Amino acid sequence: MTQSTAIPDAPFSQPTDALDSFAPRLLNWFAENGRHDLPWQQHQTDTPNPYIVWLSEVMLQQTQVTTVLPYFARFMDTFPTVQDLAAAEWDLVAEHWAGLGYYARARNLHKGAKQLAEIIDETGDFPQTLAGWEAISGVGPSTAGAIMAMGLHKYGVICDGNVKRVLTRWAAIEGDITKSATTKTLWALAERLTPVDDSGRFAQAMMDMGATLCTRSKPACLLCPLQADCLAHAEGRETDYPVKAKKQPKPSKFSDALIIKDTDGKILWLQRPDSGIWGGLWSLPLQFVEKVDGKANTKATVKKTLASDDKPSNIANDVRSNEKVYETEFTTAEQIIHEWLIKNELVTESVSKSLLDDAPIKHSLTHFHWYLTPRKLAIEATQITELNKNLAAAEIDFKWLTEQTAKDSLGLPRAMIKILE
Ligand code: ADE
Ligand code: SF4
Repeated sequence: MTQSTAIPDAPFSQPTDALDSFAPRLLNWFAENGRHDLPWQQHQTDTPNPYIVWLSEVMLQQTQVTTVLPYFARFMDTFPTVQDLAAAEWDLVAEHWAGLGYYARARNLHKGAKQLAEIIDETGDFPQTLAGWEAISGVGPSTAGAIMAMGLHKYGVICDGNVKRVLTRWAAIEGDITKSATTKTLWALAERLTPVDDSGRFAQAMMDMGATLCTRSKPACLLCPLQADCLAHAEGRETDYPVKAKKQPKPSKFSDALIIKDTDGKILWLQRPDSGIWGGLWSLPLQFVEKVDGKANTKATVKKTLASDDKPSNIANDVRSNEKVYETEFTTAEQIIHEWLIKNELVTESVSKSLLDDAPIKHSLTHFHWYLTPRKLAIEATQITELNKNLAAAEIDFKWLTEQTAKDSLGLPRAMIKILE
């Protein structure tokens, strides 16, 4: 295929024959070289299961296939149908999700299962339209397209990160993919390329292309069915695409993670509020440490503040100059604990043997880095009674569990596991 004489198919930068032959070339490649054994793939069955596609697509939104595989298997085992998932206790769902990260997805998944179960109760079936799926919690336009195409074998178009990478390269789309104008162009191109009668197989094939051939850093262009007319490849500029505005450096925040032990060696656990970080998951009580203005710390400095009586503790923090500090808020439970610590003049202790390895555990989330420092506190029965009373009065969900029981029975965020270790 040559581009020199062909006229691009407006508004696309590729000529009509390249656009028309894209799907057949991709599908041929997929038949020969694609993955056909992923447990959620539905292209080889006549009776696709939208539940399986919905569940796997949500899991795969920000997580790689190899990581998702065991989680998917456990979910299908425990929640074989959407009704099972809808009827499950949140704690059980959280426990199954723990470690996959981006916990808002798990909350949306559980909420989405309830919405779906209700729709099935009313209509007898899963939603059958794109708009119907887009109305489900946690389902965006690309996931909805994937479910239409792969989960229902109807027409659906996908345009996720993998597709965007392939298409920006193939058509040399220079626009910043975080801008809506570029998104529009990419969706229009994805629609133009998707075969109306085989969109499910096409979606699978595009995902495979993006994941196995047209990879982020080392695309295997020599094996690629689109190589002949790939504009980025022609210029040797594959990795210049997709163009994405540089991200602002993430802010940082610092918290102590309190290991409050009762006389039996059990530790206090709090369920996080539904909204916010780790919503609905269980965590050690956290205490915001201090606000350090990133701008004021123009040099990398080590901040050390001595414990004072209005703070549970302070830690040594290595504050990087390019990071702004993120202001955090106490949850109600943490506020109660904070006040209780002050009132009882309780001071937490370092868990490490020497001050020198008192380094916080760095945990990076979507919007900030979180430096968590474990601090311990052993308390007496009367103080426990008072704390329990204060927490119960505020209707806080809390539990006293040993480390091991907590690991085994609660959905703990990965950072908590790091702290326990
Ligand atoms: N990434 C997103 N969806 C996927 C799928 N169905 N198979 C493989 N990788 C994916
Ligand atoms: Fe991606 Fe290379 Fe194929 Fe172009 S030729 S689509 S850059 S793998």
